[in-house]
Amino acid sequence: MTDMDYQQLAKTKIKNKHFLTLDDYTQEEIQFLIDYAIHLKQLKKAGTPHQYLEGKTLAMIFEKSSMRTRVSFEAAMYHLGGHAMFISKDEIQVGKRETIPDTAKVLSRFVDGIMIRTFGHEIVEGLSESASIPVINGLTDQYHPCQVLADLITLQEKKGSLAGHKLVYVGDGNNMAHSLLYGCATMGIDCTIAVPKGYEVDPAILEKAEEKAKLTGATIVQTNDPVSGITNADVVYTDVWASMGFEDSAEERKEAFAQFQVNETLLANANEDVLFFHCLPAHRDEEVSAGVIDGKHSVVFDQAENRLHAHKAILATLLAE
Ligand code: CP
Ligand code: NVA
Repeated sequence: MTDMDYQQLAKTKIKNKHFLTLDDYTQEEIQFLIDYAIHLKQLKKAGTPHQYLEGKTLAMIFEKSSMRTRVSFEAAMYHLGGHAMFISKDEIQVGKRETIPDTAKVLSRFVDGIMIRTFGHEIVEGLSESASIPVINGLTDQYHPCQVLADLITLQEKKGSLAGHKLVYVGDGNNMAHSLLYGCATMGIDCTIAVPKGYEVDPAILEKAEEKAKLTGATIVQTNDPVSGITNADVVYTDVWASMGFEDSAEERKEAFAQFQVNETLLANANEDVLFFHCLPAHRDEEVSAGVIDGKHSVVFDQAENRLHAHKAILATLLAE
């Protein structure tokens, strides 16, 4: 497809105004975003200008810490000819200083899009219901769809395709696990979630992912046994044991997750050419050994780079006229 084709399709292809969870997106829409991101990545590497969002502004609200999401969204808006503004948790105080609908309505008069990282997913939903501009979920306690879009791009680049591969997520049944379940089920990727007892994923999300998987033929499994779970894995994915907002339980989690560290011994049960994924930030020698994250299977910095290209595809699509 040519540059013009992508720009034209971006205006018509995606029916959903917001980017809240991958559950809201069809296989065709996610595939379009992946392909568009790879196209934009090629333009950037070739030094070809692609300022499709000239004059557009993105408000970025962060109620939790961030490095990748903050920097890559700001760089993405700059590459696309627009502007991003960082708003810290002390400024807007979503839902505290004024109502969520009032915040959404006022921001809609000032800017062209909102990206928000926050705690409860209902905050992002509340903003999207009252905003007349696109709202993008930059991570909630329940979901991290932007990360999974970057992960799908990485898998397609590394393996040449998505469907039929087996991804095993080892660790906490958290926001990453939830978004991976939706992303894999929709794209036909077999997904196994290996979690300690008591840290399983939200049963409603698991059920929805199983329903989606029926359409693509993907297999969805949750297990408490990391060794059997990892067998035949093409991708092994992990994340921190205590996510942002759950730091108080970090000590008890260390005990519960001890058998779930992705180290050389556990990884030996996967396929020989297995890829190791981590959304980062990582804690070496907690959820992953230094040898694995810094070893030959690891593609974590390619994943991180693809956040930039994924965000450019989301922005160039949702904020297109
Ligand atoms: N992976 C990710 O979202 O990183 P940040 O928390 O640094 O944004
Ligand atoms: N599960 C982690 C992901 C960080 C990118 C968290 O929510 O802290």
